[in-house]
Amino acid sequence: MAYENITVDRRGRVGLITLNRPKALNALNGALIDELNAVLDSFEADEEIGAVVITGNEKAFAAGADITEMRSMSFVDAHGSDFIAKWNRITAFRKPVVAAIAGYALGGGCELAMMCDIAIAGDNAKFGQPEIKLGVIPGAGGTQRLTRAVGKSKAMEMILTGRMMNAEEAERSGLVSRVVPVADVVDEAITVAERIAHFSAPTVALAKASVNRAFETTLAEGVLYERAVFYASFATEDKREGMDAFIEKREPAFTNR
Ligand code: CAA
Repeated sequence: MAYENITVDRRGRVGLITLNRPKALNALNGALIDELNAVLDSFEADEEIGAVVITGNEKAFAAGADITEMRSMSFVDAHGSDFIAKWNRITAFRKPVVAAIAGYALGGGCELAMMCDIAIAGDNAKFGQPEIKLGVIPGAGGTQRLTRAVGKSKAMEMILTGRMMNAEEAERSGLVSRVVPVADVVDEAITVAERIAHFSAPTVALAKASVNRAFETTLAEGVLYERAVFYASFATEDKREGMDAFIEKREPAFTNR
């Protein structure tokens, strides 16, 4: 399938999605989200793909939802079409997604980054929820995920003033896992994704689901969920292989079964 707003590549077991509207700083319009969702559907079904990297370019990961598309929308248009609902596809994606973020990650761009499982930032990255400057509020999870990621005070300051956070502050605040030189950010993200993809795919999916459970439930319920899933992981052939390999002092050869 030919895409107009993204490019898609494969690096071994890693699927690489590059947001590709450079003239608009990768503003996320409806067509781009549709293409992103279509690729996620195909990567989800593809047993050869173990993890995904999403990136933009050196100037922008994404500068937000497309303002030209929203400009003439009324409340009734926005509410009626519920145009943000389809952004949620990625949150239901079961394989790990690593965001490689260089340049601006603003508004919906920051929200998309926060929907990914691991965020690696280039040292020129800038994060923000500047919607207040446009007379609106974040609409793709920013008020919720930013608050969970960096705490109330920082989230309030960013959302109420539109202040951007640089890469160093983003790492210190827990918004990203690591900062690397901007020229290395995609390679670093691919290396992380490759490492994940070489483990047992069903076990990786269970681990991801268990971490995500922490955002949806109480500690006691989350711990119960984790324990049930931990026991369930004993049903895989890869559990036997992983433990046998440890005892036999060799590298495991996982088969994703
Ligand atoms: N939507 C549409 N177009 C955008 C855009 C966006 N979010 N962000 C940038 N662009 C376009 C600009 O209009 C400009 O296009 P033209 O060359 O045709 O004029 C091009 O990208 C380059 O942008 P600038 O000239 O503004 O570049 P700059 O380097 O001077 O500034 C910037 C960079 C600070 C990121 C600035 O572009 C900016 O503030 N962008 C808007 C950021 C924003 O408000 N994002 C939130 C959007 S709302 C949202 O996301 C809602 C939600 O929660 C789902």
